[in-house]
Amino acid sequence: MKTTIVAAYDPISRTIADGGEILVYFTKPERGFRKSREYHPVILGGKAFRRLLRDHGGPIPERTNIVISSTLQEWSPNLPLPLKKNRNPHWFATKYNAAPLGVVIRPTIEEALKYAGTVSEEAIIAGGTSRYEETMARANRLEITEVHDTPVEGKKKFPEINPIEWRKKYMERQNGYSFVTYIRVASLLDKLD
Ligand SMILES: NC(=O)c1ccc[n+]([C@@H]2O[C@H](COP(=O)([O-])OP(=O)(O)OC[C@H]3O[C@@H](n4cnc5c(N)ncnc54)[C@H](OP(=O)(O)O)[C@@H]3O)[C@@H](O)[C@H]2O)c1
Repeated sequence: MKTTIVAAYDPISRTIADGGEILVYFTKPERGFRKSREYHPVILGGKAFRRLLRDHGGPIPERTNIVISSTLQEWSPNLPLPLKKNRNPHWFATKYNAAPLGVVIRPTIEEALKYAGTVSEEAIIAGGTSRYEETMARANRLEITEVHDTPVEGKKKFPEINPIEWRKKYMERQNGYSFVTYIRVASLLDKLD
């Protein structure tokens, strides 16, 4: 299974969150996702997913959301429908510890990747810090959005990108963002074989 990490951070401090808020939302076009990858399943940690529900109002659209959590449960018919006024997905998740319909919950990254393998040949890892740290060693590709105009310094950081292991392949700069793709050196060598 191919694994792509997607993250936005301040390129100086490598901070990924500003007071808990994700720096740039996955759903914005400038997010650095390539069109061809938009429909692969996305794996998120429990905190990143709750932030997404709170600030974006729902899971990442048009793809399978797989959340690593030991406390959230998947939606089931014995739960009330989160449709009434004020019952937005974040309120619902907080009250019932349950994710919206269609979101897959798995206890570990291994289980999450196994599930992703049943729906696609590639999984996108979308944070937060713990998820990046545990998947950096196995990722094939990093799709990074560097956020230049709003310097932030916080505890939640992206891991170091070791230049011996990673090569910058594409870089595009626009509107205060740089979109950078890194490919694992081993993947590049495989292509030469
Ligand atoms: N800039 C970006 O691209 C970006 C993207 C995503 C997130 N973020 C930021 O990242 C921050 C969250 O990162 P985070 O590392 O604190 O949290 P996280 O990886 O999003 O989620 C941590 C949660 O995952 C669950 N979990 C299950 N097994 C775990 C394990 N072995 N180790 C750790 N957690 C496990 C726990 O949830 P349960 O309690 O439910 O079991 C835990 O609270 C937020 O501030 C968010 O804004 C930034």
